[in-house]
Amino acid sequence: MDPVRNPYAPGAGQRPPELTGRDRELQQFDVVLERVARGRPERSMILTGLRGVGKTVLLNTFRSMAIQKLWGTGKIEARPDQSIRRPVASALHMAIRELAPRHRAPDRIEEFLGVLKAFAQADAEPAKGKTAPRRWNPGIDVPAARGRADSGDLEIDLTELFVDAASVATDLGVGIALYVDEMQDIPADDVSALCAACHELSQSGGPLIVVGAGLPHLPAVLSASKSYSERLFRYARIDRLDRDAADLALLAPAEREGVTFTEDALDALYQAADGYPYFVQAYGKVAWDIAPETPISDGDIRVAAPEAEGELAVGFFGSRYERATPAERDYMRAMASLGDEPVPTANVADELGRKPSSLSPARDGLIKKGLIYSAERGLVAFTVPHFGHFLRSQPV
Ligand SMILES: Nc1ncnc2c1ncn2[C@@H]1O[C@H](COP(=O)(O)OP(=O)(O)OP(=O)(O)O)[C@@H](O)[C@H]1O
Ligand SMILES: [Mg+2]
Repeated sequence: MDPVRNPYAPGAGQRPPELTGRDRELQQFDVVLERVARGRPERSMILTGLRGVGKTVLLNTFRSMAIQKLWGTGKIEARPDQSIRRPVASALHMAIRELAPRHRAPDRIEEFLGVLKAFAQADAEPAKGKTAPRRWNPGIDVPAARGRADSGDLEIDLTELFVDAASVATDLGVGIALYVDEMQDIPADDVSALCAACHELSQSGGPLIVVGAGLPHLPAVLSASKSYSERLFRYARIDRLDRDAADLALLAPAEREGVTFTEDALDALYQAADGYPYFVQAYGKVAWDIAPETPISDGDIRVAAPEAEGELAVGFFGSRYERATPAERDYMRAMASLGDEPVPTANVADELGRKPSSLSPARDGLIKKGLIYSAERGLVAFTVPHFGHFLRSQPV
């Protein structure tokens, strides 16, 4: 059928034509926004799940919900080895710019921007190849304030910055939401500072929340940093879509174009995509292009499947596999040969005929690259759904 009208959207962070199966999380977040804006005690939300289940898309939807309620919002994507100071400064700058036009006291905004600039410039990190800290110009055209959020200690500075930002939002009866994607990648010291700042803020009831998304081991990362993090955040595990949600994700956008699927086609699609949102979009997209007419049939799905698998092998699996070093690839192949459940690291070592300690660099490298995670002490699992199957199907 006409590829120009193809509604499906496989791709990282791509907004799906129909966001299905997430009603509970959307409802919960709506309550969070309402309560926080009224100064009620409320835990913020953190989305966790495997690659391609729709964390980024849901996080972006949460952001739109806050914008609709006239909140100020900003977003960062954490990276390993990068301090969150500058990204957080930019994100809050964005949030305040959203609020500024509605604020009646421009000097309150200016005052905050001065603190924000001081915060941004209190970066102790030396620039690459230099020893003296380089002053970063955050693009804020007010003079930097002195003596607030500029101590160089991220925990103190974040706390002061958050309190001040929240107070600007309070003037307007709204809140500020800071969204953090790939949250497991925040360096350990910064995670600890961020949790502490959120903790302080939750005690003062200031309307600022940090909403996160990350891999399944994110709760473990946070509680290793601060034991109270479990009381700070409500974790929502984002998972595969159930059959009804997966069918709706395919049917609703098709029907808006006057196209539908046979029941057998939906059976075949659910079997192939296994309810994983990325796969649902990928198979839907190819099936649409290949089907000669509506309704899309199970025969069409059979023809489409190899092409969809081929595209996933390159775009979804291959691109990730290529990030791994040869030693890391061996490690993953050994994991794959042991099945699809989380596997003990000791068994991986056995499989490779190596001492477990000699494999730590490969394992740690894979965790840092976000390809595997430690589900529990001594266990490792793939972050990418069906990755074991993909590796087993590849020629060695
Ligand atoms: N609820 C949903 N219904 C239908 N499609 C969805 C849904 N959520 C996500 N998708 C689709 O799934 C794909 C992956 O979404 P997204 O990039 O948000 O996943 P992710 O969990 O952030 O993955 P990663 O861990 O790789 O960042 C996108 O193509 C998106 O359109
Ligand atoms: Mg994502």
